[in-house]
Amino acid sequence: MAKVDRESAKRDPAPRDPAKIARIRRKLLDWYTINRRDLPWRRDPNPYAVWVSEIMLQQTRVAVVIDRFQSFLVRFPTVIALALAPEQDVLAEWSGLGYYRRARMVHKAAQFLAANNEGNLPITSAELRTLPGIGPYTAAAIASIAHHEAVAVVDGNVERVVCRLEGWEHGNSGSAAALARKIESQAQALVDPARPGDFNQAVMELGATVCTPRNPQCIVCPLVADCKTRGEHKTAPRPRMLSREVAFALCLRDRQAKVGLRRQTVCEVLLDQRPESQSVMPGLWELPALKEAAVPNEDLRMTVRHAIMQVNYYVRIRNVHEGDIDTLAVPSATRRWVPRAEAAAMPLTGLARKVLMRAHLLSS
Ligand code: ADE
Repeated sequence: MAKVDRESAKRDPAPRDPAKIARIRRKLLDWYTINRRDLPWRRDPNPYAVWVSEIMLQQTRVAVVIDRFQSFLVRFPTVIALALAPEQDVLAEWSGLGYYRRARMVHKAAQFLAANNEGNLPITSAELRTLPGIGPYTAAAIASIAHHEAVAVVDGNVERVVCRLEGWEHGNSGSAAALARKIESQAQALVDPARPGDFNQAVMELGATVCTPRNPQCIVCPLVADCKTRGEHKTAPRPRMLSREVAFALCLRDRQAKVGLRRQTVCEVLLDQRPESQSVMPGLWELPALKEAAVPNEDLRMTVRHAIMQVNYYVRIRNVHEGDIDTLAVPSATRRWVPRAEAAAMPLTGLARKVLMRAHLLSS
């Protein structure tokens, strides 16, 4: 342990008051019983459903996840069904959720479980953590919600609730690593061993709906009497966003095609598949990237802001004629004309989906 961490651990050994812990558990669980949101993965919390929902909920808003979770489970109702599906189908079903690495990891873990454990997830959080893509957070969520193991789930919401309850803020608890250890240990002390899954979800729910980063609703908080902050607390400064300017081609053509017995005009859009060797979004389909970020005004279709990690992309979409694409676009080994109606089911990048939706070329 670094010197600063050892000192802060000595200075702040988080005194534990059993009566206070019992009170926090009771008040929080009573509040959760009345206020819990009716979310689809809560209706049948089997380990597979909890796993899929928790992975989807990382980095994606609940409202978006609700829809995608239900269709994912209809398409891949079991670990075995998921394991047997081609990766492109899994990515297509994931599309719109972003962070496709998560989908690949779930798919890989499902294939491992199908081959080695008859498609069953392990039961304990320690065993769950050995699977690809399952870290301490997901393992604790599955084990506590589906198997009632008394292990704390610690995500950003839980961190905030614990820090505010204890009056801990950025800079007053030694290093960031020391603070993280204190939060983890305090969260673990709070988990109710009688209802660990409900307790964990209650803390996350409180953080998401009442003890929010800005303007927390302390007036309706069940834990206000035991809270040492009662309002916003000091957090580490956010990393500065970088900005980049890029441009992509919207290249369309109409083609006569036989649809059933009739000939019809089919609108096609030109898409590139990102190479599998790329570290970011490998294998996903996107609009052809242009060599120049500047776009003549008469060809500008739209501009879009798109944030990925710490970068704000200011994206210009240029209407490009089929005959000009080779001159204007960065070459691609896998460029394909895709009928508009088929594009929605492809694993598109978030940006490509956003642009095609805004251009009214995709229906969902
Ligand atoms: N955020 C992520 N997982 C959650 C859960 N199971 N309940 C409430 N909020 C969550």
